[in-house]
Amino acid sequence: MTSLPTIVREMLCAKVNNPCIESCQVILAPSSLITDRLILRRPLLSDAAAIFEYACDPEVTRYMDWQTHTDIQDTVKFLESCTQRWKSGEEFCWVITTKPEDQVIGAIGCRLEGYMADFGYVLNRKFWGKGYATEAANAVVAWIMSLSKIYRVWATCDTKNFASARVLEKAGLLREGKLRYSMIRPNLSPIPRDTFIFAKIRDEI
Ligand SMILES: CC(C)(COP(=O)(O)OP(=O)(O)OC[C@H]1O[C@@H](n2cnc3c(N)ncnc32)[C@H](O)[C@@H]1OP(=O)(O)O)[C@@H](O)C(=O)NCCC(=O)NCCS
Repeated sequence: MTSLPTIVREMLCAKVNNPCIESCQVILAPSSLITDRLILRRPLLSDAAAIFEYACDPEVTRYMDWQTHTDIQDTVKFLESCTQRWKSGEEFCWVITTKPEDQVIGAIGCRLEGYMADFGYVLNRKFWGKGYATEAANAVVAWIMSLSKIYRVWATCDTKNFASARVLEKAGLLREGKLRYSMIRPNLSPIPRDTFIFAKIRDEI
């Protein structure tokens, strides 16, 4: 895991919109999360080629809310925005890497807002069906739920994205409902599509 001084260097101060919490809360987002087979770590610019490999794959991006990358510069911009969003506290994004090679196979990100957090993930198609997304999701959900201010962690997926729905179930989230015509998947259609919403709450731990 990350040594304390590194965490302290990277800590950010996020104001929350919860009237019960008056003071500025400090959120320590770990630079890495370690599981049995994976290391989730902060992305580097040198990860661009590995990320582009899946971000340009229309099968991978089918249900994403961002457009398929067509040029590696799209990926570089994404990486730059990751750094910005981490610094501002808007979003924490980790690349998913396999041990011990440090091979980048995907990414997972979460956003904290007051007493809630949401997350999303993506994996290179070569690595689907091995339980990696569930392993990464479990690690991120565990970290989120270790934050005392968080009472609800949630995620959405297209109602036709069966693999993602299964990952969310396996990560311990319950399907709460369907939000009809709620999200545009730009790689599929400009017409909004139905989305499932899943969540795990603190009482369920
Ligand atoms: C969704 C995604 C991350 C899953 O990654 P993964 O590492 O293959 O997921 P896991 O292996 O941990 O689990 C997948 C589960 O879905 C199941 N699954 C896969 N395809 C399925 C399908 N068509 N119908 C039903 N279940 C399916 C698998 O059998 C497995 O469940 P099981 O362990 O009970 O057998 C990966 O497919 C992906 O990157 N997709 C494109 C990006 C994306 O859609 N991200 C999510 C946006 S909400």
